[in-house]
Amino acid sequence: MSTESKVRAVTTSRLKQMKEQGEKISMITSYDYSMAAIADGAGIDIILVGDSAANVMAGHKTTLPITLDQMIYHASSVVRGTERAFVVCDMPFGTYQGDAKTALHSAVRIMKESGADGVKLEGGAEILDSVKAILTAGIPIMGHLGLTPQSVHQFGGYGLRAKEEAEAEKLIADAKLLEQAGCFAVVLEKIPAALAKRVSEALTIPTIGIGAGGGTDGQVLVIHDMLGINKGFSPKFLRRYADLHTVMTDAIGQYIDDVKSGDFPNENEQY
Ligand code: KIV
Repeated sequence: MSTESKVRAVTTSRLKQMKEQGEKISMITSYDYSMAAIADGAGIDIILVGDSAANVMAGHKTTLPITLDQMIYHASSVVRGTERAFVVCDMPFGTYQGDAKTALHSAVRIMKESGADGVKLEGGAEILDSVKAILTAGIPIMGHLGLTPQSVHQFGGYGLRAKEEAEAEKLIADAKLLEQAGCFAVVLEKIPAALAKRVSEALTIPTIGIGAGGGTDGQVLVIHDMLGINKGFSPKFLRRYADLHTVMTDAIGQYIDDVKSGDFPNENEQY
């Protein structure tokens, strides 16, 4: 199994150029080879191996339980399915907070063992030492501010963040800190659109929004949500581009009927 990634058409410098030229950046999550190959073939710019794998792949209620080994497994599968897009792997909860050495070790493992092109970390000033340590190894970092799901228990839920002035000011300061440290992009999740636009205009690196309005430099959605595989999750910011839940249920239902009736397999479907 090869975990070495080649240099892809989408690079950190290409992403910066896209911002400079006003070209919006498209990003989507994937967790396995087949979905990544479809997203990459469709022309997506960035594939995020999100720790939302804990939710949509493993059925956990939060992103906290997923492990470094599990993220590496998902990321290495995605890398094998991706030729053009830039692949970013989330650093899971507990692998970078509070200890820069552990953070560097975790990020190096992701890069070496999965072949991903970069990592994503949640937080600002409080994780700056970890960010700097990872950057010393030449590993590209995407920041993540606003609703950072690994802090769900501190926030007390998944509601809109930075509504109040103090939290908005901290978010702007954190975004600038991440840019100054050398991050190549920042995800802004579930914050007011006006604030996301302000941050995007204040930074020279691209911002990628989710539930943050149209003023960011790009957008990201969880692939299971935008394809309509998850029926139960329908926040205001989510646009569904397909109803795969119904398509798949109907197809499996038809298969069951065909097996029960003896219609499948027919003469042409056997040796
Ligand atoms: O894990 C994830 O899918 C994410 C996106 C929602 C940005 O971090």
